[in-house]
Amino acid sequence: MCGIMGYIGKREAWPIVMTGLKRLEYRGYDSAGVGTIYKNRLRVAKQVGHLSALDRSYPEGLPGNVAIGHTRWATHGGITQENCHPHVDPGRLVAVVHNGIIDNAEEIKEALQKEGASFRSETDTEVLAHLIARELEEGRASSLVEAVRAALLRIHGTAGILVLSRLEPEVIVAARIGSPVVLGISDEETFIASDPSALVGHTTRIVFLDDSEVAEITARGFRTIDLQNRLREKRVEQIEFAPDEIALQGYRHYMLKEIAEQPAAIDRTLRGRTDMTSGTARLGGLKELGRRIFDFGRITLFGCGTSLHAAGVGQFLMERYARIPAGAEDAAELRSRNPIVSQDNLYVAISQSGETADVLSTLREIKMRGGMVAGITNMVGSSIARETDCGVYIHAGPEISVASTKAFTSQVTALSLMALLFARMRDLPAHEGREWVGGLNDASNEVHAMLVHRDRIKALAEEYCRSQYVMFVGRGISYPVAREGALKLKEIAYIPCDGLSGADMKHGPLSLIEQDSPVWAIVPPDETRERMVGNLQELKARGAAILAVAAPEDEEVARLAQFVIPLPPHHPACSPLLTVVPLQLFAYYAAVALGRNIDKPRNLAKSVTVE
Ligand code: G6P
Repeated sequence: MCGIMGYIGKREAWPIVMTGLKRLEYRGYDSAGVGTIYKNRLRVAKQVGHLSALDRSYPEGLPGNVAIGHTRWATHGGITQENCHPHVDPGRLVAVVHNGIIDNAEEIKEALQKEGASFRSETDTEVLAHLIARELEEGRASSLVEAVRAALLRIHGTAGILVLSRLEPEVIVAARIGSPVVLGISDEETFIASDPSALVGHTTRIVFLDDSEVAEITARGFRTIDLQNRLREKRVEQIEFAPDEIALQGYRHYMLKEIAEQPAAIDRTLRGRTDMTSGTARLGGLKELGRRIFDFGRITLFGCGTSLHAAGVGQFLMERYARIPAGAEDAAELRSRNPIVSQDNLYVAISQSGETADVLSTLREIKMRGGMVAGITNMVGSSIARETDCGVYIHAGPEISVASTKAFTSQVTALSLMALLFARMRDLPAHEGREWVGGLNDASNEVHAMLVHRDRIKALAEEYCRSQYVMFVGRGISYPVAREGALKLKEIAYIPCDGLSGADMKHGPLSLIEQDSPVWAIVPPDETRERMVGNLQELKARGAAILAVAAPEDEEVARLAQFVIPLPPHHPACSPLLTVVPLQLFAYYAAVALGRNIDKPRNLAKSVTVE
């Protein structure tokens, strides 16, 4: 969703801010804008659509050594030029870019209108520009940072903001109320962004603003206060970015690159975390839990989208191997049910970005009620990583494509390690633990073996991409994989589909099957196989074209299916890492064949930072 980039230093700010915004494009946006100060005047450039449209409208850019930029994902008000950020006050004293939502914007707007103010946009952000400017104009605030702090005290909601004022041309004020803001420190220049990936190539010295902090930033450094005007000490952290990790490296799309990176990503998730001698996992980030692992009577995993599907696999592994009752919950639904939080329940928040608003709010609610929350995230230093009690980083590397792929397999790997640790501390015998460790260590090679079927899957995708409906079926550990396969196809190829359990299928969706309707069936050689074969017979009898992911020696499946993607031998707990790969490739190639925008599908955002 919305992205923010700012620069203050000696160089021309426009190209730096535009490059930073381009790096944030993957989050999804519908319009963009940049504000600068030049010769003590505020200049603002805005355009609906792609950043290239903004570039085309301002081929020379705007001059100035200080700038704030924004990519907007419309919430308050339509996709129009007026609604693009930055927003300025009527006297053009200040310019503001904003991520988040101001809940009491309407109320404040009405009050300001009664006092004669007029608004140009339908956004909540413009209200903030008015409030800040008034603090300065009416003499209540003697500096921009003071004016921003005062204005923020009047709003409810979330705000990651950058503010410029022509009264202080050598300052940017940044603030974080909920929405992330990071500073990048360098010699004689400072960068500010909503996501550290925008800072790649500029600096590795990062400062994460904490909630309710306001920073006064110059080219030479920064000073941070809280909303009560108390000075806050900040730590400069070193973050290693490899610039080539966010380059396409010859791939046509990030999604394909990220699918191909899965073996390496799984290995990174596993690195140093398995113990073959004891047949268990070593997870430094869960040390906190210590002996409490014995006492948990229930585990609740929650997330959204693909992370929710990873939670589904985690639920299965926890119940099956650690013998702890477990649930996988949509984060927003869990919170809206007024959750009953108990001390013997461990909660696990799963999120690639670590910023998904629904996951963050749910974790806060659970913590407020005294619950213990562990996190599984990819983004080091993200809000979820910082606010959970303990956790595991998946180390999958930057994921740029909106459709999540390598984060899913790395999340499943991290959840496997967690389930293994719990299982070994409770019930699982050592030799079974060692078998599982062996299975995890072999997983990356097995995923490689699945990637080899790329061209055959491409041909299938080209054959079936014009279907009206595609069904994905799986049972047990493969049920969340079926759901993930359907999510991939609908999000990037826009083909209606369902991800179902073999049982579910019979309670309605079977009526959608016609002659040659494609059905992806996930049939690994586990305890669900027999039932799945029964389901395939029912599907075949109704004309379905079955595309199966199954063991090559499974003759029964081979007879029923039109096509089989063979599974190499693997540990049964690792099957989701393998079975999801052909489904990801199928979605990718179907979307390519249909000419879709692969990495930035319509209407979707990488990181959903509003509830
Ligand atoms: C959005 C993305 C999905 C992602 C979901 C959860 O919907 O488009 O790809 O799975 O958010 O994101 P998270 O960062 O919390 O895993």
